[in-house]
Amino acid sequence: MSKNQFDKKSQAWSALFSEPMSDLVKRYTSSVFFDKRLWQADIAGSLAHASMLSAQGIISAQDLADIERGMAQITAEIDAGAFEWKLDLEDVHLNIEARLTHLIGDAGKRLHTGRSRNDQVATDVRLWLRSEIDLISALLIDLQTSLLEVAEQHVDVILPGFTHLQVAQPVSFGHHMLAYVEMFSRDAERMAEVRCRVNRLPLGAAALAGTSYPLDRERVANALGMVNALGQPQVCQNSLDAVSDRDFAIEFTAAASLCMVHISRLSEELVLWMSQNFSFIKIADRFTTGSSIMPQKKNPDVPELARGKTGRVVGHLMGLITLMKGQPLAYNKDNQEDKEPLFDTVDTLKDTLRIFSEMIGGQLNPATGQKEGGITVNAQAMEQAALRGYATATDLADYLVKKGLPFRDAHETVAHAVKAAITHQVDLSELPLAVLQGFNASIEKDVFDCLSLRGSLNARDILGGTAPKQVRAQITRHRARLA
Ligand code: ARG
Repeated sequence: MSKNQFDKKSQAWSALFSEPMSDLVKRYTSSVFFDKRLWQADIAGSLAHASMLSAQGIISAQDLADIERGMAQITAEIDAGAFEWKLDLEDVHLNIEARLTHLIGDAGKRLHTGRSRNDQVATDVRLWLRSEIDLISALLIDLQTSLLEVAEQHVDVILPGFTHLQVAQPVSFGHHMLAYVEMFSRDAERMAEVRCRVNRLPLGAAALAGTSYPLDRERVANALGMVNALGQPQVCQNSLDAVSDRDFAIEFTAAASLCMVHISRLSEELVLWMSQNFSFIKIADRFTTGSSIMPQKKNPDVPELARGKTGRVVGHLMGLITLMKGQPLAYNKDNQEDKEPLFDTVDTLKDTLRIFSEMIGGQLNPATGQKEGGITVNAQAMEQAALRGYATATDLADYLVKKGLPFRDAHETVAHAVKAAITHQVDLSELPLAVLQGFNASIEKDVFDCLSLRGSLNARDILGGTAPKQVRAQITRHRARLA
């Protein structure tokens, strides 16, 4: 093909190029079919940039008015699904700019003054991610609220706490739920911290070295709400770093991965608790599926999938962090690969959080004003399991220590008592006093206070402990924090 047959106009930088891209390479290098979801951020960034260009006398007031009019029309077109995204125009930025120029002429071509797609895309991703973090933060509050409600209703329900998945000590089911509230509250903290570093302005870095136009970067930062807690504009301070930094996306994905890991741990417990061997809880049917062959089955598909999707999000973290490894300064096209993992991380996390809030806490019934259809707790099965597992053995040891025995000796004595209880197939609390006294003469009638599940629970009346009094205090603290 000769140079002349090649339609140079179809590419933004074409004067230098003597042959067109093959369709395969076009498809390979383009990002428009996934980065078009940045369109709102792209337009917001462009409007803030244009308004500053005009204020600085770099473009005219008329140019700005034309750009604003054109962008309003483009917004309407995209909203209506009428915008034609073109693969030939590679990405969201070039598609919007080309349409703008088509609509308003030369003013559209002036928009890119003092700007490069390198600082543009970094700005867009930051703006987009910032609003997604805000949605995720709200969803984290919903999930914590659901867990808190379940905790509040089940402070006095006792289940065996496990270590090594062996019955260890009795704990309040409310306390168990609050452990997850703690995890998700840290996830929310992490999201807030990541947000501070996401919310900084790359525009003005241009391609990599800054620009010779007298841009007012702080004005743009202010216009885009890229400000700190004191309301001061947050501007990336090194142009090379501004266009190439994707730390913010990596640390967001790390925070999202941790959050998914917490969901995955909860999922694993829900799956265990739902199995017939535990029968601790039920989740509503709408979160389960049947088996095509075994009519009796109700499978916990949603928690299982969440556990599986955790792998996918952690994979995205590995993808992003590896993407950055070995990249020289400044921008490299590698960075276009940041979007799909980041988008999928956000989508997966948001869906998962939404589903879990409802699966745990239920759905609001507007007729009654009550939430319905959350998890159902089988308190009796939980308590039975705690009794079967000699969960109060530590309490007997503690009892003997209070009677003056060194802890290691008490530990050994209790092991004998548990052995006897296993032989007679009874709980420790069901061994007659005389039998217990056979293990240690200092044992008196009051031993039964601590051998009961409730006695054991009440004894752990320490900050962070499982005594119902402490659990209630924690619920009050969380409520105040989330209010
Ligand atoms: N689509 C590109 C990306 O996502 C935009 C930046 C392109 N810059 C460039 N110099 N080719 O990274």
